[in-house]
Formats: sequence, structure tokens, C-alpha cells
Amino acid sequence: MARWLVTGGAGFIGSHLAEALVGKGETVRIADSFITGNRRNLAAAGDRAELVEGDLADPAVAARAVAGMDYVLHQAAIPSVPRSVKDPATSNRANVDAMKASGNPEVRRFLGLDMDLGRRLGLNADWTQCAIRKVGNYGELFERHLGLKSPLKLERQLNNLASHGGLHYAPAFR
Ligand SMILES: NC(=O)c1ccc[n+]([C@@H]2O[C@H](COP(=O)([O-])OP(=O)(O)OC[C@H]3O[C@@H](n4cnc5c(N)ncnc54)[C@H](O)[C@@H]3O)[C@@H](O)[C@H]2O)c1
Repeated sequence: MARWLVTGGAGFIGSHLAEALVGKGETVRIADSFITGNRRNLAAAGDRAELVEGDLADPAVAARAVAGMDYVLHQAAIPSVPRSVKDPATSNRANVDAMKASGNPEVRRFLGLDMDLGRRLGLNADWTQCAIRKVGNYGELFERHLGLKSPLKLERQLNNLASHGGLHYAPAFR
């Protein structure tokens, strides 16, 4: 049997995944900070799942969580748009600041950590970070002002990314 890490296992999606996996006799570890998760959700997997409690944006916690695991089902997130409007600093930390630790060159270029694309455009190197901190990313803007979470309740349809059936194609940052 495999060893599975379910991050955000005290949340809605993660707790159901953990329950399904322990039901199949798999070895499950849940990692959650309980920033929005609920301890009652852990009852689904019962005492058959190990718990790592802590903030996965902390590299030490993340390393402890993944140690010895075969698979990671990454569901830890702060997905609520209203919450990100009420408390932008916490969501930005999860969505922008935590990404600064990424080793992915595309993410690093996008955030202005490597190369000087911003400066070549006449902007600060961290212009994308500043924009996301202030108003969120494009998808969040659409949701908030036009999308299903707004009074207009419009579907993304052709406005979506090409990878999701729409027309938006973002050229690589290089
Ligand atoms: N619920 C849905 O219908 C739905 C639909 C599509 C996609 N999703 C996606 O699935 C993912 C999980 O959604 P959900 O509805 O289960 O959310 P949720 O808020 O119920 O659960 C998220 C869990 O992550 C934990 N968490 C957040 N930040 C953390 C951190 N830094 N360290 C450790 N734990 C942390 C929270 O405490 C919470 O238990 C999100 O990416 C969401 O966008 C959800």
C-alpha cells in the first residue's frame, strides 16, 4: 500500500480524500494549519490518519509533512475570494509570498525574482507581485467583478485561458 500526504486534510476536499484513502486501507498523513479547516473534519479519517499540524508555507513544516510519502494530494489553500478581500495580507502571503520560494523558473521570472523583465518594460522588477497583492490575479478579478461570485454571475467561457477552453493565451515570461 502507498503512503499519501493530504495537505489541507481538515478542509472540505482534503477531508473527503483522506476518508476515501483510509477506507481503502492506504497509509494517510494529513497536514493542516487549521487556518480555515475544522478539526471535526478529521473525524472522517478517524485515528487511521497521522496529523502534522502547522503552516505549510514554513519550509520546515513542509519538509516534515512530505518526509517518507509516496504521493502528495495538495489541497491546502485559502480559496475564499471574500476572505481574500477582507484579509488580503493572509491570502497574498499564501499566494504570492509563498511562491517566492519556488524553484520553478517560470514562476521566478513572473514574480521578478530572476531576470529583469519588469525593468525592460520600464517598471519595477516586482510589478506583478505588487499588482497581485493589490487586486488579486486576473481570474480572481473576473470572479469578483463579473463572475459567478459577483452580482452579474457571468461564466468565463471564451474569456477563459486557452488551457480551459477559452481564448486567453499567455506567452511565456522570458
Ligand atoms: N470546494 C470546492 O467545491 C472546490 C472546487 C474546485 C476546486 N477547489 C479547490 O480545492 C482546494 C481545496 O478547497 P477546499 O474547498 O477543500 O478548501 P477548504 O478551505 O475547505 O480547505 C483548505 C484547507 O487548507 C488548510 N490550509 C490553508 N493554508 C494552509 C497552510 N499554509 N498550511 C497548512 N494548511 C493550510 C486550511 O486550514 C483548510 O483546512 C482549493 O485549491 C480549491 O480552490 C475546491
